[in-house]
Amino acid sequence: MSGKIPRAFIDDLLNRIDIVEVIDTRVPLKKKGKEYWACCPFHNEKSASFSVSQNKQFYHCFGCQQSGNAIGFLMDYEHMEFVEAIESLAQMAGLEVPYERGQGPIQTDRGFEPMYAVLLQSSEFYLAQLKQNQDAVTYLRQRGISGETARDYAIGFAPPGWNNLPGERKTLAEAGMIIEKDDGQYYDRFRNRLMFPIRDRRGRTIAFGGRVIDPEDSPKYLNSPETPIFHKGGEIYGLFELKKAVQQIEQIFVTEGYMDVIALAEHDVKTAVATLGTAINNAQIEKLFRVSKTLIFCFDGDSAGKKAAWRSLEQSLVSLKEGRLARFLFLPEGQDPDTYVREIGGENFIKESKSAITLTDYLFDELLAETNISSREERGHFYDKLRPYLDQIPLQSMKDGMLSEVEKRVKVKLDVRMLKGLNAQHPTPAFVRTMPETRWTPTRLAINLLLQKPSLADTTGTLHELAESDIPGINLLLQLLDLIHEEPGISTQNLLDRFRGNEHEPHLYKLAAMQPAMDDEQSIELMFENCLQQLQKKYIHGRRALLIDKLQSGEALSETEKREHKQLFTKH
Ligand code: UTP
Ligand code: MN
Repeated sequence: MSGKIPRAFIDDLLNRIDIVEVIDTRVPLKKKGKEYWACCPFHNEKSASFSVSQNKQFYHCFGCQQSGNAIGFLMDYEHMEFVEAIESLAQMAGLEVPYERGQGPIQTDRGFEPMYAVLLQSSEFYLAQLKQNQDAVTYLRQRGISGETARDYAIGFAPPGWNNLPGERKTLAEAGMIIEKDDGQYYDRFRNRLMFPIRDRRGRTIAFGGRVIDPEDSPKYLNSPETPIFHKGGEIYGLFELKKAVQQIEQIFVTEGYMDVIALAEHDVKTAVATLGTAINNAQIEKLFRVSKTLIFCFDGDSAGKKAAWRSLEQSLVSLKEGRLARFLFLPEGQDPDTYVREIGGENFIKESKSAITLTDYLFDELLAETNISSREERGHFYDKLRPYLDQIPLQSMKDGMLSEVEKRVKVKLDVRMLKGLNAQHPTPAFVRTMPETRWTPTRLAINLLLQKPSLADTTGTLHELAESDIPGINLLLQLLDLIHEEPGISTQNLLDRFRGNEHEPHLYKLAAMQPAMDDEQSIELMFENCLQQLQKKYIHGRRALLIDKLQSGEALSETEKREHKQLFTKH
């Protein structure tokens, strides 16, 4: 889990390293004009639309809209976790990452060392026990698991009995391996079970799942509880093993069980992973998409499987960026990937997965299932149902593709236009962006200039009055001004990094990447001033109209409004 790294360190780091150097060693860049360019490593293209700005220390692809700073690049390109990316950049810069200790619930990685150590020790203990227990070995053999696969997944065995696990008691308890009784004594959590270590991306064992080998015992599977280093909702079983075994990861099979992953691996399908007995969430899906652009969700054909599949679809939508694909493989009733691959073999399993239903088709199939598309009214309902799903997809081209798919399916052109039209008035205008990508508005230009030169904010007021206007994007501009006022002298890269994970982040990078006509200091300042004047004008215009409306409708003005009215109509 990520230790807390002080903000000031991240700022310093981003100011010291050069993103051009970070990227150039991985994706060779060519300088053209002020920026560096390459064919985008995140989507397939023939001409370079991937740009890296040395001034602003970020990258942006004009094709697939992926963008970020050096940290984001390492996370996306090298599939690193946040802390790893920081560590790697720090190494480049010759800095040591300082971790804050004991900050709230977050502790440092270093504080967890003893826990990692006892978990490793436990895993080795279980491995040794498996060799000595005939029942467990027989069980594995009956399920068709070879010694090699068992080794790859470090499958072990927790012997029967209450007090077998060696190691320091307190740490073992903290790691979830033993349980404290009222009398202060401990007993083993896992007894007479096949043990599956759950390993993090660095291969450290962080938890276990244990399966009964005696059908009389229950529950069938027992997992480690949540601990400071294990959070079920954030982990995925088999991801470490997958990365170790496979270089080019074409696709990942997402299953629901440990044994599904292991049986698939046994049949040479080594890119399967599983959730840990919980429904999959977007964080997990995002993690998987960073490793492979294609996810194939495998589910039983029963109703529970369908429900889980639909949830996976819902959780995938916001992650559907350029090149990412999700498919759904529904297995015959009563089968899971384990039984199915044993029946048809690995090659056939992969073959079948190629024709697994795409996310788009699955979405439309489900939503259209109860719709009579020849009825205008029912089509309306269908659009109402569809809209919230489409709204979540970040990529315009993908939405457009889906819309033309709707056209094909519904076979009525007019209605699709109606859908687009309806959506323009919908509160989330992101759905159909009719504006050309590079249209400059005073707000956009002001934001772009501020990102080029944060010190422009030094001479502006807070402009908070503008918050009342409904000028699009004004809040983002004000937020930027506030940030710069709070930290005068902040660099562009630090400013951008303040928005990491923020809803505005993609938009901000897009604006930063747009090329305004001027780049000399003086015209930047003039232009910025001009933008603010235009915004003021817009604001005043809006206020005037509002006050006039009030007066015309016979409403009384408050004292402040009267004063404002006088000012507005005399000064400008
Ligand atoms: P399943 O019950 O579908 O089992 O649980 P399975 O994977 O087919 O297992 P086998 O083939 O009988 O060995 C799927 C997953 O749900 C979680 C586990 O993570 C399991 O892998 N689970 C299941 C539990 O956490 N507890 C249980 O009691 C059962
Ligand atoms: Mn099973």
